[in-house]
Amino acid sequence: MNKLAKEKPIPRGIPTVRMMAMPADTNWLGDIFGGWLMSHADIAGAVLAYRRAEGKVVTVAVNNFLFLEPVFIGDIVSFYAEIERVGSSSITVNIDILAERPDSEGPYANLRVANASITYVHIDSAGNPKTIKQD
Ligand SMILES: CC(C)(COP(=O)(O)OP(=O)(O)OC[C@H]1O[C@@H](n2cnc3c(N)ncnc32)[C@H](O)[C@@H]1OP(=O)(O)O)[C@@H](O)C(=O)NCCC(=O)NCCS
Repeated sequence: MNKLAKEKPIPRGIPTVRMMAMPADTNWLGDIFGGWLMSHADIAGAVLAYRRAEGKVVTVAVNNFLFLEPVFIGDIVSFYAEIERVGSSSITVNIDILAERPDSEGPYANLRVANASITYVHIDSAGNPKTIKQD
């Protein structure tokens, strides 16, 4: 089992996207389609990268994407973003993805369902990499 799957689901970062998984988002197995999580994770990371860069960013690389638990219809899925690294024109963001779902032990269980690392590049109006202001 992956180390992150065993950790207590205390989210890393700030919640930048929250969605409820709907029937239209399922794959043929009836679970939520991985691409649904990937697309929202991309937006969740971009929100933080856009703020840090103070301007336009594009996704250059998905460095890592771990699917730890299946996501089901009705889960409330939260995408927490935290900056991992700021380079000259790039920003790498960790996205921690947690789901709330009804549980026999309480009103809701909180589960870490996925984790990703995505790199964005700050661009100018011509689409070329642009230097990010350093703190
Ligand atoms: C992103 C893009 C502007 C980069 O242009 P480029 O001329 O290749 O950029 P560079 O080689 O100068 O690299 C720019 C930064 O990206 C980083 N980078 C490039 N490739 C990378 C990769 N595979 N993984 C991680 N970082 C990467 C570089 O390290 C550099 O970071 P730094 O300035 O902080 O050191 C260009 O490739 C592009 O427009 N890609 C399409 C983006 C897009 O449409 N995304 C949405 C996908 S649907």
